[in-house]
Amino acid sequence: MFENITPELSPALDVIIKSRRSVRAFSSIPPSQEAIEAIIQAGLLAPFAALAVAGKPEFRKVFVIRNSSAAMKTAADILKNKMAKFADELEKKVGPVPFVQNLKRIGQQGVSGVGNAPYYVVVGEKKGTPPVAAQSLSYCLQNMWLKATSLSIGFQLVSATMQAESDPDFCKLLNIPCGEYALDGCALGYPADNYQPPSVEYPTLTKSVSWL
Ligand SMILES: Cc1cc2nc3c(=O)[nH]c(=O)nc-3n(C[C@H](O)[C@H](O)[C@H](O)COP(=O)(O)O)c2cc1C
Repeated sequence: MFENITPELSPALDVIIKSRRSVRAFSSIPPSQEAIEAIIQAGLLAPFAALAVAGKPEFRKVFVIRNSSAAMKTAADILKNKMAKFADELEKKVGPVPFVQNLKRIGQQGVSGVGNAPYYVVVGEKKGTPPVAAQSLSYCLQNMWLKATSLSIGFQLVSATMQAESDPDFCKLLNIPCGEYALDGCALGYPADNYQPPSVEYPTLTKSVSWL
């Protein structure tokens, strides 16, 4: 195996991995359908939990919601209301902690990445036993993120999507049976002019690794 892999390819992957960032402000110019399909194709090649989805056709589904579409407006409204409700419920349990304040802001302003980027892409993974659909979705989205980066297309995770997987209106919008798929999502589009992500400190080899 690995017949097509040569050592010269590895530095290119390093560049892509190091360039991957969360983009949170987008140009209104939409990437082409071809580019979006290439990104989705990378996600479809990500690992899946073979035993959990054995005998389940269509275990991974992808929904591309275009900006300014009726579907985008519906998705944005559902997620915004969900976050507002979630914030209220959580506040009753834990009080006005910073996480709750942030949820409240999202409940008022809407979910970032839904309605302010050319595409909101939702990925569904059929739930099964063991219950690892969320992990499979992470692999799928990471592949998409790296492929988007390789095409200079910005990517933002939209974790609020996970909260909507058992929402009847959201599942109706996607035309999937309610509760059968774990969901996650991302926004895709070119970064806004002069967009600079904040500086981030990543874990380091020296501090994070122990050889036993
Ligand atoms: C499980 C998970 C959920 C995340 N959810 C969101 C999200 O909903 N919106 C967002 O803008 N970023 C989200 N992020 C992105 C992180 O905030 C980001 O990766 C981190 O701050 C490092 O920045 P970088 O992506 O630019 O390297 C999420 C990351 C992870 C791992």
